[in-house]
Order: sequence, then structure tokens, then C-alpha cells
Amino acid sequence: MSDRSIKIVDLIAGARPNFMKIAPIIDAMRVRIQDGSPLRYRFVHTGQHYDTNMSQAFLEELSLPKPDHYLNVGSGTQAYQTARIMERYEDVLMSEPCDLCVVVGDVNSTMACAITAKKLHIPVAHVEGGLRSRNMRMPEEINRMVTDAISDLFYTTTPEAGAILRSEGHSPEKIIFVGNTMIDSLLKYLPKARKPRVWEEQSLHEKEYFVLTMHRPANVDALRRFEQLIHVIDAAAEGTPVIFPVHPRTAKIMERLPQKQWQSIRCTSPLPYLEFLYLLQHAKGIITDSGGITEEATVLGIPCITLRETTERPETVTIGTNELAGSDTQKIHYFIQKIIRGEWKKGSIPERWDGRAGERIVQHLEQWLFDF
Ligand code: UD1
Repeated sequence: MSDRSIKIVDLIAGARPNFMKIAPIIDAMRVRIQDGSPLRYRFVHTGQHYDTNMSQAFLEELSLPKPDHYLNVGSGTQAYQTARIMERYEDVLMSEPCDLCVVVGDVNSTMACAITAKKLHIPVAHVEGGLRSRNMRMPEEINRMVTDAISDLFYTTTPEAGAILRSEGHSPEKIIFVGNTMIDSLLKYLPKARKPRVWEEQSLHEKEYFVLTMHRPANVDALRRFEQLIHVIDAAAEGTPVIFPVHPRTAKIMERLPQKQWQSIRCTSPLPYLEFLYLLQHAKGIITDSGGITEEATVLGIPCITLRETTERPETVTIGTNELAGSDTQKIHYFIQKIIRGEWKKGSIPERWDGRAGERIVQHLEQWLFDF
């Protein structure tokens, strides 16, 4: 094939969960390129996350290529970070345009790059389009709505997400139900999951500990709320270890806690992907305010309590192993005790969460880009 037929797709990632979502797309593209496809990709890393254990460790474990463009934006307020990503990605596109910009998930990098590409008349595809928490106080909800409003293609994780997009006026041929690329990574890397150091340090045993993650501004930006959550989780677990890899955002408030002696909670630094998977896979239960982890818990069949009032991933509750507790301390206590008693519901796995979403995306992308 001649060079003139080559089409370049930008794949955007910036924050930790993005890496697991783009890796399967890159894997599928590599296969197609080896088979002679004129498709080409550029990996654009915005640098929203930059600590080794929030970024580089993930790139290595997921065998991601070195970024073609590293925008080095770092941290800042919502507007500052978004604006910096837009400025720097615009510079890239002005000097080296692409034919399609693929964004994943709902972080600031997702929205910022989608707006930048679209304003330069470059089409945008949103992987994980159509999710809605209906909570406009979460920056992610605004990122999802803005990104979806201007995207040209939507690769969805559930039929419900497609229905939301259609109800917002997007035409059905732009909405492709492909499954979940985060689950592609989970299924691919589970056999390589690796025991973390904390396992020996805390003398952990399979199904005899909880995993806790918390990083949402609503839970970790106000000291009182964070303290209440920590207190109830620690008490309800009654000495069953609660392993808590602490996100950098959460570490800041931890420093302000007047008391850090707990009977159950054991803190550790953020873990690399393969070690975190090991911890999840063998846990008795998971307590989290993440969205992606509720999906992983569902596929692994591990009981999961979500410390949020709403979820943009309702199938993890209706089909999977997840329950919403919000910040209701009584509910959190009750749910933790229910898991300890072994009385949690058994979930099942949502349709097409089968490890092949990346392949489906690339198959469709090729048809769309090259018209075959
Ligand atoms: C971001 C996403 C969130 C996602 C989460 C996963 C947005 C609005 N939020 O939240 O949806 O679930 O990533 O982790 O995009 N920091 C470091 N080192 C890093 C990265 C961050 O120290 O490598 C600290 C900085 O102090 C920063 C804070 O963590 O201010 C928050 O980082 P930021 O990227 O703004 O948001 P997250 O809370 O990580």
C-alpha cells in the first residue's frame, strides 16, 4: 500500500486508568499493522499523572510504547490542567495533524484533547462514551458530557450507554457496542498478577482481607468526611486487614489526620498494576470510590462497596457484585459486616466484557477510516 493511504490515529492517555484502557487498542492495532494495514497510531501522554507509580510503572507492565508525544502538564486546578493540556496538544496537532483522535474514559485529559481536536476539525472517537452518573459535582461527569457532545464515534461498554447516547440525539450508526477495554486488560494480565510486598509484610491470606481505595474529591478533600469514612471502615472490619494503597491526592489529607492508629486499616503506596490485580483477585471484599475497580470486582466476582451516592456504571450493581453506600456510615458498616458473614450477592458478567473490546474497536475504526 502507498504511504498516501496511511491514516494516523492519536490515542490519548493521561491519568492512571487511561493506560489500561488504551493498551488493548494498541495491541489490536499492532496486529493489524503487522498484517499490512495502513493504520498508524501515535500514543499521546498528557502527563496528567507523572509519578513513577501512577504512570511509568503502568506503561512498563502494560507493554505500552514510549509516548510519541509527552505533554508534561502535571497537576493543577481543573481549569489550569485542562487549559495546559489543550494548549500543548494543539501545538502537536498544528504541526503534525492526525486523522482521528481517540480518547478514553472521563478524566481531564479526555475532555481537553477531544475539544482541541474537534476545534481543528479532526474527528473524535470516545471509548466508554454514554456513561452518566447524573452527579454534576464530579469533574468526570462534566468531562463525559462535554466529550460526548462533540464526539463523532462512540465505543460503548454497555447497551444502556448506547441508549443514553441515542436519547441525547446521537445517531445509532455512530454508537458501537464493543465491550470494555479495561476488562480486556484485566483478563490479559490476570495470569501475570504478582504478589505485592505488603502481602508478606501484613501476613495476608486469601479471602481474609479487604482492599480499600479512595481518591474522589468528595471523599478526600474535606478532613471531616474522610475521617468519618476511615473510622467506620476500620471499626466495621473488626481487625480483618484493610489494605489501603494511598493515592497522592489522599496522601495530602492523611497527613492532617490527628490519629493514625487503626485496628484494621494498613496503608501502602499506590501499587503497580500487576500487584494491585493480585490483591483484588484474592480479596474478601473491596471498598472503593473508583468506577473502574467496580467493573474489575464484577468480573472477578468479588463483593464491592462503593463510597459514592451514584454510579455511571449501574450494571456493576444490577448485574455485578457492587452496592452503593455513599457516605452513609451505617450502610457502610452494615455492608462490611455482610461481606464478613459471607452473605453478599453473587453477580454475573455483563455482555461483551470478554477481553475482545480492543479488537472490536480497531476492526470498526479501520472500516470507518478506510471505508472497507
Ligand atoms: C484523576 C481523574 C479521576 C481518576 C483518577 C485516577 C480527573 C478530573 N480526575 O483524579 O477521574 O479516577 O485520576 O487516579 O481527571 N498527583 C501526584 N502525582 C501524580 C498525579 C497526581 O502527586 O502522578 C497529586 C497531585 O497533587 C494532584 C492530585 O494528585 O494535584 C490529583 O491529581 P489529578 O490528576 O488532578 O486528579 P486525580 O485525583 O488523580
